[in-house]
Amino acid sequence: MNQLFRRKQYKASDHPSGLVRVLGVWDIVFFGIAAIIGAGSFSSLGEAVFRGGPGVIILYIICGFACGFTALCYAEFASRIPTAGSAYTYAYASFGELIAWIIGWALIMEYSFGNIYVAFSWSDYFTSFIGRIGFHIPEYLTCSYPEAKKAFLAGSENKELINAWKNAPLIGNLKLILDIPALVINGLITWLVYRGVRESKNFNNALVLMKLGVIVLIILVGVAYVNVDNWMPINPETQVASFMPNGFAGVMTAVSGVFFAYIGFDALSVLSEETKDPQKNLPRGMIISLVLCTVIYIILTLVLTGMVDYRKFDGVGDPLSFIFEKANANLPWMELTVSFVAIIAITTVLLVFQMGQPRIWYAMSRDGLMPKKFMDIHPKHKTPSFATIVTGIVVGVPILFTDKSFILDFTSIGTIFAFVLVCGGVLLLPSKEKLPGRFHMPYINSRFIFPVIFLGGLTFFYFWQPEFFHNLMEWNDAKEGEFRISMFFFLVLNIALCVLAFVKNLSLIPLMGLSSCLYLLTGMTHNNWFWFTVWFGIGLIIYFSYGYRNSKIHRELNGDLD
Ligand code: ALA
Repeated sequence: MNQLFRRKQYKASDHPSGLVRVLGVWDIVFFGIAAIIGAGSFSSLGEAVFRGGPGVIILYIICGFACGFTALCYAEFASRIPTAGSAYTYAYASFGELIAWIIGWALIMEYSFGNIYVAFSWSDYFTSFIGRIGFHIPEYLTCSYPEAKKAFLAGSENKELINAWKNAPLIGNLKLILDIPALVINGLITWLVYRGVRESKNFNNALVLMKLGVIVLIILVGVAYVNVDNWMPINPETQVASFMPNGFAGVMTAVSGVFFAYIGFDALSVLSEETKDPQKNLPRGMIISLVLCTVIYIILTLVLTGMVDYRKFDGVGDPLSFIFEKANANLPWMELTVSFVAIIAITTVLLVFQMGQPRIWYAMSRDGLMPKKFMDIHPKHKTPSFATIVTGIVVGVPILFTDKSFILDFTSIGTIFAFVLVCGGVLLLPSKEKLPGRFHMPYINSRFIFPVIFLGGLTFFYFWQPEFFHNLMEWNDAKEGEFRISMFFFLVLNIALCVLAFVKNLSLIPLMGLSSCLYLLTGMTHNNWFWFTVWFGIGLIIYFSYGYRNSKIHRELNGDLD
């Protein structure tokens, strides 16, 4: 049993990085925005708004808090280990091999599967852009097969998807529907990463300014078209006007889309060795980027839902240019500008993740948990060549047969799960001596505060959303039932955390991170859990049939290290 939790001892000399500390707090913020703002804000915002209505801003605030607490946990980890790394590296040193493997496996969902969604979004904006300048690609070559089929069967009003289904040529009995732009951009990015594209501070900063510039433009131009009545749409069933037309339960169904918009801040912890005064600048940079993004998301949501009725966003993959289409604000120049900048903004996110995945596999392979081939370095380009190509395949193949919403859910559940382990892990870390120049998370005793926050939050919620609690007690439709089961687990786990906080004087920040991430998991459906469990099971099978026996530590312990 102890073998499963064998830990890796990192020494400063393990990875003589030779990295120079050049990054200040605003560089971290800029890197943060480069990785965070992408398909989530330019794309999944549309579906989130469709599900939750204007009230989805509440979810942005909840996710902002959950990610803020988690960011501090990442910073704590980054300060403990004398080498740059991801959650995988930190877990290996702190909790041992099995948890490290599980996190590494979950990170595939964040990095590779996340990029599938990002590639789909890139395609939506690319298609919209070239359509504006007069080129038309048939719809059946710009969306995925399952997406078109689902839209057709559900009688969706999304014309592009319906046209794709109706006009697709037949090969035998199969309709030829595939997303060519998504496939091409994945190929191009894989090639760039393979050739060793370099992250450059100045180039990165220029792209971020462009991204922020267009968002400010959207807000400034869009505000003039806001119709405040749209913020209180009328629910057709109840005829009640509400900021949350589908109730709080409707808002919670948007968790995946909203959470996805925050993914990426965790990648900042890898910059710890290049940051000046990391103790201050790393956590500050992470928190500032998260606060900025939260404010941007809230304002964007208000502009979007004020300009166009939230129901019109069904299946819209390019909501920020959609609001300027003829049927809406009718500003072709804005539609064109937004699509063009979105293409660039989304490309930066693709690059960050496509570079990150092979490096995680490289680390896992170095530890013996993945085949040695993943450590191959290209003799000329000096990049992890094999791992980069495998990443390209892992992203590219599912583009052919998955749909966006499935991938979005899958990425979010996997990433939230990794965050749960990271926050939970920090709670288990032994307390340490303060070291100069390292980040130390402030210790706040949660003994009384956590139970008060939890019970206070529950009480507030009870009075604010009585019908939500009422619905939790009833058992009349499948979706409600799903939500209730997750809620039940959430409540039980939090009661247990209250007891633990009281008995063990746990540290408040990681505890809040853990609890808020667990809360986000309540928004996941049975289907998400089912596929997540399958994924998790496959990961465990691979670990026990390969990683456990081939791990470097195992071989060291058994004296068969070559
Ligand atoms: N947060 C990143 C994006 O929205 C993953 O594209």
